Amino acid sequence: MKRPANWPDEAVWPPTTYNELTRAYLDETVCVDCGARPRQIDCGCDLSKWQAIQAETWRDNFELQKIPGMGVGVFALNDVDAKVVIGELAGLLRPSNHKASDSAKHYESKLDIGPYQTKVKQPYAYIDVWEYGSWTRFINHSCEANTAFLEARVGRNRLLTVETTQKIKAGTQVTVDYGEGFFEGDDKCRCGTRSCDNPYEEWDSANEEEEEE
Ligand SMILES: C[S@@+](CC[C@H](N)C(=O)[O-])C[C@H]1O[C@@H](n2cnc3c(N)ncnc32)[C@H](O)[C@@H]1O
Ligand SMILES: [Zn+2]
Ligand SMILES: [Zn+2]
Repeated sequence: MKRPANWPDEAVWPPTTYNELTRAYLDETVCVDCGARPRQIDCGCDLSKWQAIQAETWRDNFELQKIPGMGVGVFALNDVDAKVVIGELAGLLRPSNHKASDSAKHYESKLDIGPYQTKVKQPYAYIDVWEYGSWTRFINHSCEANTAFLEARVGRNRLLTVETTQKIKAGTQVTVDYGEGFFEGDDKCRCGTRSCDNPYEEWDSANEEEEEE
């Protein structure tokens, strides 16, 4: 494979390890560990140290619960403030040209790789959480989600994080918006919110009864 002309001199070509692939450059993201701005790329933060602290955040503040019809979901044990990075979406890193099965393709999120491009298409990889991944893979979708995926970095490692978009009260389910094309047609959404795009039939039948009156 030919080294792209814009691949930085400092970068390994071809990248073969996770760290080489997810290496952050003078890019647009903030370090979620120390808050260093994009151009302060060499803040020195260490990914494995940050992950160890995150593991405690998970253990102390969240738990998994079974939800009828939705499998497993994540619930907050304590109140969590808005704009808090609660974890990392970790999984298997796959090349952008790989073909996932119909069910597995819904478990993939894009992560940009290499330096940010302005003239050519940004290369990316998939984080595949179908079989393996961190606890964040159990976050269900809601059409009124209380977290969002945030592309970030820790030191020189780019990663996909989950950040709260509002205060989450203890006992509430943690949810994220999976984006368009997930719950379409017969794939009904069970988020149960007023703004649901494709509500599950119990909601449908309740609406029909109202119309008959
Ligand atoms: C990334 S997983 C989330 C964890 C999943 N509940 C589990 O037990 O493994 C995504 C899957 O969860 C289920 N799910 C998530 N949000 C849902 C929703 N709003 N309505 C119905 N099913 C949902 C669907 O089966 C979906 O394919
Ligand atoms: Zn840092
Ligand atoms: Zn919904």
